Amino acid sequence: MHPLRNLACARWSFLLNNRATCVRTAMHQCQRRLFSTSRSRMTTMPAWVIDRYGSNDVMRFTKNAGFPVINYPNEVIIKVHAAGLNPIDVSMRGGYGAATMAMKRDPLNVLQSGNEFPLILGRDVSGVIMECGLDVAPVYFKAGDEVWAAIPPWKQGSLAEFVVLNANEVSKKPKCLSHTEAAAIPYVAATAWSALVNTGGLSMDNCAKKRILILGGSGGVGTFSIQMLKSWGAHVTVTCSQNAERLVRGLGADHVVDYTAGPVRGPLTALEKFDLVLDNVGGATEGWAPGLLKPWCGAKYVTLVTPFLQNTDRLGVADGMLQTGVTVASKALKHLSKGVHYRWGMFAPNGLALDDISEMVDAGKIRAVVEEEFGFSQVPQAMLKVERGHARGKTVVSVSTGIH
Ligand SMILES: NC(=O)c1ccc[n+]([C@@H]2O[C@H](COP(=O)([O-])OP(=O)(O)OC[C@H]3O[C@@H](n4cnc5c(N)ncnc54)[C@H](OP(=O)(O)O)[C@@H]3O)[C@@H](O)[C@H]2O)c1
Repeated sequence: MHPLRNLACARWSFLLNNRATCVRTAMHQCQRRLFSTSRSRMTTMPAWVIDRYGSNDVMRFTKNAGFPVINYPNEVIIKVHAAGLNPIDVSMRGGYGAATMAMKRDPLNVLQSGNEFPLILGRDVSGVIMECGLDVAPVYFKAGDEVWAAIPPWKQGSLAEFVVLNANEVSKKPKCLSHTEAAAIPYVAATAWSALVNTGGLSMDNCAKKRILILGGSGGVGTFSIQMLKSWGAHVTVTCSQNAERLVRGLGADHVVDYTAGPVRGPLTALEKFDLVLDNVGGATEGWAPGLLKPWCGAKYVTLVTPFLQNTDRLGVADGMLQTGVTVASKALKHLSKGVHYRWGMFAPNGLALDDISEMVDAGKIRAVVEEEFGFSQVPQAMLKVERGHARGKTVVSVSTGIH
């Protein structure tokens, strides 16, 4: 069994022994805060926070954000060396997904509404382990390990000096990448892995010569997906704007269709049919893209653009989930009757997948596509850049914290 898989078991055993373990963890924290830190830093740290949802002016720098602590024996504290921003950070800044995130943070609904503030954004981290919970050290990780991770949206993010994560979400950073380069990969990689591998059923062993279409291939998820699929031997067609064509071809795309030159449906329909379509664009594409699949062959349309979080924001968690279930089931049935599978892809944290991806990066099969690096004082500018979609080739912007 992979050693990290044992952490999942450790998590369950912790839940069963909750009280005793909490005491052990607290003692552990008292005895072993191994890294040197000033007195004020024991309770506070620098971070970019928001105190309410809104536009970019809600971003606030503070030196007094709460210092994160290890609450479970399978958690680690990571000192952030670089953080990555994704479109979801901009959406979350505006309140997107707030209802579902509140439910994930506080399933029993015992806390006051608004308890998520001050909220720290940033879904990618590359950094160094500072301290490990009792079930983690020294077998899985130890202080000083260079790691990377995609941070689930319901947890405090990486625009801060430290972040606490479950060790199952964390992986050893590729040795060949700097922290800034590494911070461009985990969130889009975990999303692509969830959509293509877990939902789409693709793997290194069954991808050879499969025909894959990526709609919106020049963004963060697309640029990662092209590289992973090409390294697994697939034939990859992408849609993107003309000025991203060079980039996606450089990453290995076999065929490129420019969506800024006119509707792409016609040129794509003229091509041989596909085994899988990954849709990063959504909207009207959903109406015709499943028709590009080989019928009755197990081919899948996987879209990352879903109404799940809007539904729960609009209708509340219970009604929103019900509405979501009805929507996805009726669409899946409709497409099944035409011989193709319709699926929703969702981000899922996955340290094991990041282990594999780390190896692929070190083997030279996947590279980081970092367009611009911002200093920690420039986080609002970095957010604006992501918001305006100015990134060519990716919208993950690495943010050097500059506070190591
Ligand atoms: N469900 C989930 O859990 C989940 C997780 C992550 C992401 N997502 C969603 O997945 C999508 C992709 O994420 P991302 O991080 O890759 O976003 P991104 O970096 O903003 O990339 C989106 C790309 O789409 C391209 N594009 C825009 N309109 C297009 C069109 N009509 N045809 C073809 N390409 C078009 C843009 O390409 P050009 O620059 O060439 O114009 C842009 O690079 C987003 O909608 C995001 O919200 C969902």
